[in-house]
Amino acid sequence: MTDPKTFHVKSFGCQMNVYDGERMGELMAARGLAPTDDAGAADLVILNTCHIRERATEKVYSDIGRLRKGGRKPMIAVAGCVAQAEGEEIVRRAKVDVVVGPQTYHNLPELVAQAAKGAPALDTDMPIASKFGALPNRRRVGPSAFLTVQEGCDKFCTYCVVPYTRGAEVSRPWNQILDEARALVDAGAKEITLLGQNVNAWEDDGRSLHDLIRALDRLPGLARIRYTTSHPNDMSQGLIDAHRDVEKLMPFLHLPVQAGNDRVLKAMNRSHGRDSYLRLLDRVRAARPDIALSGDFIVGFPGETEAEFADTLSLVDEVRYAQAFSFKYSPRPGTPAADMDAQVSPEVMDERLQRLQSALNRDQHAFNAESVGRTCQVLIERRGKLPGQMLGKSPWLQSVHLHTDAQVGDLVEVELVRADPNSLAGVERVRLAA
Ligand code: 5AD
Ligand code: SF4
Repeated sequence: MTDPKTFHVKSFGCQMNVYDGERMGELMAARGLAPTDDAGAADLVILNTCHIRERATEKVYSDIGRLRKGGRKPMIAVAGCVAQAEGEEIVRRAKVDVVVGPQTYHNLPELVAQAAKGAPALDTDMPIASKFGALPNRRRVGPSAFLTVQEGCDKFCTYCVVPYTRGAEVSRPWNQILDEARALVDAGAKEITLLGQNVNAWEDDGRSLHDLIRALDRLPGLARIRYTTSHPNDMSQGLIDAHRDVEKLMPFLHLPVQAGNDRVLKAMNRSHGRDSYLRLLDRVRAARPDIALSGDFIVGFPGETEAEFADTLSLVDEVRYAQAFSFKYSPRPGTPAADMDAQVSPEVMDERLQRLQSALNRDQHAFNAESVGRTCQVLIERRGKLPGQMLGKSPWLQSVHLHTDAQVGDLVEVELVRADPNSLAGVERVRLAA
């Protein structure tokens, strides 16, 4: 195998994987490789995988098969959470060139160089020293950029692989984060989304996430701040107050609850109850009445009865989420729930998921319909399909399309005039200085 000249990164799963994928791309570009959008033509393909739910591994193998179709032999690197969980097995079964976990991808250039000499390279360590110090500076980003501030999880929900694939909770240091935020703004970011598996557990020397948000609020050139994903137990009063006080902090909160029944929550090891979650949302809404709420749900957790599932539906009715994600429970190897009795049948899970999703869709449509008539700022993120049409995001993370001569990265004041199933139509009012 020769040294690759071009590369393509394909990221699956969560926003942190998107961030990691960008950083891997920057690493390879810094070594002189050229990025290409065409996976079928790249010399090096990096599959940045997700292990959170079912069939992730099978998907990786079928992707590898597709890349090798017609006798092509690109160098293949498997990165991400499947790499971490099943590294050696992947090398053995699919004979890929490189396997690298989420905590060591700063070594990717060396691993690729080793593979180019013909020796498969595997690195799934969980080193103490963080990869971040070894990554190049951010240079080119879109108007909305991700910034990982915290990784890993110590909560050990019984269904979840994250504590095993991403490791223990680690916070990046304050200065390093502010440096990267400045670099992102210099590179064109108007909005920064702070990322972490438990982002609101971020801390450094007594400072918490709301201190970081207040510091970013003072960063010239930055217009919007978001953060995700939060755990209900780490939702401090300081963070809630920031939603009241900090203008750049967008009125949106993704706060997964997973289920609405206390027995199920306990079996999930969620360490919060239905009621404590609802009362927490009351406090958040008191601080920021227009906040858009989002959540994650799992249906068919082992032992979940029809009556227990009905508690999830009633919680949804009570909260009225602006948007949400819902999943069928998927047993993950090595997690406690995978060995629990009374696994729920696929048919029952399908049926529950459908009922849950129709309730969530109902609320999402209602939220969008209620937004019609509001005037708000939209951050333009990309061109639309029609000539002169641009797409952007409202403060409540809704997709908005409008006709404007504004450019990507501009903030426009827009009146929301129509709610479509998955987006809103807007009419431009005033162009705001960026
Ligand atoms: N099965 C189904 N959904 C899961 N999630 C995490 N683990 C599982 C699993 N084993 C969902 C949770 C989490 C989101 C990122 O993925 O809802 O919040
Ligand atoms: Fe997984 Fe639970 Fe940690 Fe979230 S809090 S990453 S669901 S273990």
